[in-house]
Amino acid sequence: MTPDAPNMTRIVRVDPRSPDAGTIADAAALIRRGELVAFPTETVYGLAANALDPAAVEKIYIAKGRPPKNPLIVHIADLATAHTLTRNWPAIADDLTNRFWPGPLTIVLPRSALIPDIVTAGGETVGLRMPAHPVALALLRAAGVPLAAPSANRSSHISPTRAAHVQRSLGGRIPLILDAGPTAGGIESTVIDLTTSPPRILRPGLITAAQLGVSAPESPSMANPADPVRSPGVIGRHYAPAARVLLIDPSNPREFDVARAAAKRIGRMHFAVVTSSTDALAIAMPIDPIAYAARLYDALHTLDQAGCDLILIDSPPDTDAWSAVLDRIRRAAM
Ligand code: TXA
Ligand code: MG
Repeated sequence: MTPDAPNMTRIVRVDPRSPDAGTIADAAALIRRGELVAFPTETVYGLAANALDPAAVEKIYIAKGRPPKNPLIVHIADLATAHTLTRNWPAIADDLTNRFWPGPLTIVLPRSALIPDIVTAGGETVGLRMPAHPVALALLRAAGVPLAAPSANRSSHISPTRAAHVQRSLGGRIPLILDAGPTAGGIESTVIDLTTSPPRILRPGLITAAQLGVSAPESPSMANPADPVRSPGVIGRHYAPAARVLLIDPSNPREFDVARAAAKRIGRMHFAVVTSSTDALAIAMPIDPIAYAARLYDALHTLDQAGCDLILIDSPPDTDAWSAVLDRIRRAAM
C-alpha cells in the first residue's frame, strides 16, 4: 500500500509556530495534485482542496458527506488574491479585513468568475477568510492557490480541534492530516454577509457582533423556518455529538432529574462544582466565554467518546460575548 492510498491516512506532526518547510511542501504538492489535506487553523481543523479545481473540491463533499447545497469558505493568504476572487470589494470589506485579518472572520462577497460553481454551491457569492495560523498560511503560500476548506469532520458532526478528532471522523477517507496540536480558538469563524445593507452575521463566531459593529444575529431557536436560506450550513442540528444534548438551568435540579432518569450514561459540562456520581462524567467549563469556546468541542468529543447517551450543559448567559458558544450548544441540543 502506498502512503497516499485513499484508505490510509498519514498524520504528520508539524510545529505550530514554525512549520517544517519540507512537510509543508509535501502537503502543498498533494493539494496541487488535486488531493485533500486536513490542516490546523486558529479556529478548528479544516479540510483543504485547491479551490480552483472543481474535481478536487468535489472530493471534500464526498469525504464529509456534505450536502451539495452548502457552500465552502475559500481561504487566502493575501489581500490581492482575495480581490481577484470577488467582483466587488466595498469599503466595509477594507475596514473589516484591516481590523480582523488574518483572523477568524469570513466575509461573503459577490464571487468572480475564477470561483467554480461547486465551491459556492451554485450561488453568486463567495465566503473568504485569511486564517491566522502559521501552518495554514504556510500551506496557502506553498500551494500557491486559494484553498476551499470546511471544518474537517463528517457533515453535521462536532468540528475538530485536534488531529485525533479529524482522524476519528475522516480517517481512511483523506491522505494527510497536519497535526499542530489543539487549536486555540476552538469554534469556527464569524461569517458576515457584506452583500446586504446593513451587513448581516450569518454565523456567530469568535469575533462578536459588538466588535464588528453590527446587530446580533437571531438565535437559531428564534429564526423563522419560512425565511429564505441565507447560509445553508447554519440551519438545524449541527456541531452535534452522537449523544442527546440538553441545555439546563443549573438552578433547576428537577429538570436535571427528569432527564437523568431516562439516560444510561450522563455527561455534564458545568460551571460550578457539582456532586459527582458514579454514572456521570463531569467536565468543569471556564466561566470566560473565550476560554469556554476553546474547550467546548473538545469537551463534547470527550463525552461522546466516553459513550454518554445524554450530555447536560449548564446554560451560559444570553449575552453578545456568549452568542457564538450559545449558538453552537443550542444547535447541538436540537
Ligand atoms: O473557522 C472556520 O470558518 C472553519 C475553518 C476551517 O476555516 N471553516 C468552517 O467551514 O467552519 P464550514 O464549511 O464548516 O462552515 C462554513 C459556513 C457554513 O455555514 C456555510 O453555509 C457558510 O459558512 N458559507 C460559506 N460560503 C458561504 C456563502 N457564499 N454564503 C453564505 N454562507 C456561506
Ligand atoms: Mg463545519
